[in-house]
Amino acid sequence: MAVERTLSIIKPDAVAKNVVGEIVSRFEKAGLKVVASKMAHLSDKEAGGFYAEHAERPFYGDLVAFMTSGPVVVQVLEGEDAIARNRELMGATNPKEADAGTIRADFAESIDANAVHGSDSPASAAREVSYFFAATEVHSR
Ligand code: PPS
Repeated sequence: MAVERTLSIIKPDAVAKNVVGEIVSRFEKAGLKVVASKMAHLSDKEAGGFYAEHAERPFYGDLVAFMTSGPVVVQVLEGEDAIARNRELMGATNPKEADAGTIRADFAESIDANAVHGSDSPASAAREVSYFFAATEVHSR
C-alpha cells in the first residue's frame, strides 16, 4: 500500500468540546503521523474557498457559517493508505449513521456539526493540503 497524505480538520464543535487530543490520539494509534499542524479561526473567504465545490448545495451557507464559528485544528496526516484510513476512523458524514467507535459516532452531534473533515481522494488531498500549507510547513518523517 502506498504512503499517502491527507488533510484533516478538527472542526469547531470538537475543539469546543476539548477533544482535540483524543482525536489526534486515534490518528496516531491507527498509524497516521501528524506531519503538519496549526490552529486557525477561518474567515468566510477561507472556509468558502475550501468548500467551493459545494457552493451550489443548499447547506453551503450553513457549512461555511459553522466552519467559521470557532477555531479549528488543521493537520496533514501521513501514512499507508492515509486517505481511506482516516475516513474509516471518522465514520459516516451523518453521525447518526456512523459506526460505533468512530470519531463522529463518539464526538459529533449532527450532520452540521460533525467533528472532523478528511480528504476523500488523492486529488482532493493534494488540493486541500496545498490550500492550507506551504510545502515547507509539511514535515515528512
Ligand atoms: S458529498 O456529496 O459526498 O460531497 O457530500 P458530503 O461529503 O456528504 O458533504 C460535504 C460536506 O458538507 C457537509 N454537509 C453539511 N453541512 C451542513 N448541513 C448539511 N445538511 C450538510 N450535509 C453535508 C459535510 O459535513 C461535508 O463536510 P466535510 O468537512 O467535507 O466533512
